[in-house]
Amino acid sequence: MKKKILITGGAGFIGSHVVRRFVTKYSDYDIFNLDSLTYAGNLENLKDIEAYPNYHFIKADITDEATINKLFEEHQFTDVLHLAAESHVDRSITDPLAFAKTNILGTMILLNAFKNLWSERWDGHRFYHISTDEVYGTLGETGLFTETTSYDPNSPYSASKASSDHFVRAYGETYGMPYVITNCSNNYGPNHFPEKLIPLCINNILTGKPLPIYGNGKYTRDWLYVIDHAIAIDLVFHKGENHETYNIGGFNEWQNIDLVRELCKQMDSKLGKDEGSSEKLITFVKDRPGHDLRYAIDASKINQELGWAPSVTFEEGLSNTIDWYLNNEDWLQEVTSGNYQNYYQNQYKGE
Ligand code: NAD
Ligand code: TYD
Repeated sequence: MKKKILITGGAGFIGSHVVRRFVTKYSDYDIFNLDSLTYAGNLENLKDIEAYPNYHFIKADITDEATINKLFEEHQFTDVLHLAAESHVDRSITDPLAFAKTNILGTMILLNAFKNLWSERWDGHRFYHISTDEVYGTLGETGLFTETTSYDPNSPYSASKASSDHFVRAYGETYGMPYVITNCSNNYGPNHFPEKLIPLCINNILTGKPLPIYGNGKYTRDWLYVIDHAIAIDLVFHKGENHETYNIGGFNEWQNIDLVRELCKQMDSKLGKDEGSSEKLITFVKDRPGHDLRYAIDASKINQELGWAPSVTFEEGLSNTIDWYLNNEDWLQEVTSGNYQNYYQNQYKGE
């Protein structure tokens, strides 16, 4: 049977890299990118592949049950790669219900539509749920998240993703649905919306605005270049075991303050500014409520079972990322006009 793969959230940051990889690498698959184009979705991210004959875009909302059911009946999607989500922790603190709606209800509507289509004839079909390491909660100074770490989410975002992971598993256990889940660490790279730390700081350096560091800046994240995440997703989709979870991470922990200093150093050098100029913009601001201290992934399962490892070092990935933003200032200006300004004023008032 020809594969007709539904990728949700394909106009977003990670989704656009996954769509590009599948469309260009697998000409024998039909790829359907379903996205409601929220503030985070941008078809400019896929301009270079929109004319490919195996690429199809559908503007729809995953929480619109009638439309989703109709689309599954009409297109008979053989597989789902589910990335559509509300994805920003700070927004989840201001508007938790939006996260419950899209991340929990939206996932359930997709699961149900998939079950209604293939129940009892599951062979050759798969629901792939893309999730986050934030479902595991926070680590102290030591230790790593493994696939068997208990879920312990702290933010409305991570609680909604944890809930969606549980529903995916429940459909696997209850209805025999073949699924796979991956929980990945923080991504960075081209097309990252500038409300997240790295692209926000790149944009603020370019516009001479303060670089807001929450609390004391000692919070730690494990950063992975987005294209390495897309490569891992391709591998797990084709080679991963059904009913399994794989953790994906960069083996690359940074405290926020050190990361921003490294970014400033690279930006100064690329912009031909005196060393230390951008660092002067660093400003410590009010902390995020419920801020998780540290995330760090043990990615040895995907490494040993599927042979995946990151392909670029952090220095290379960060350099590529900065170059992309410097070469795509129009993209940056476009996404930071309009509503972004309101969001920014609200989030960083007085800073
Ligand atoms: P993003 O916010 O950049 O993109 C989300 C996309 O989903 C956007 O294109 C948006 O328009 C679309 N969308 C949102 N609500 C929708 C709805 N109701 N119906 C249809 N489309 C909708 O997010 P991202 O950073 O690319 O993350 C993608 C996925 O990967 C998410 O599930 C996220 O939880 C997960 N993840 C992200 C990271 C990260 O560091 N960004 C790390 C691990 C896992
Ligand atoms: P973010 O990019 O929002 O990702 P996540 O919350 O999913 O990890 O934030 C990364 C880290 O940077 C996190 O510890 C919060 C911190 N941060 C700041 O210090 N200042 C900021 O303006 C932002 C957006 C994040």
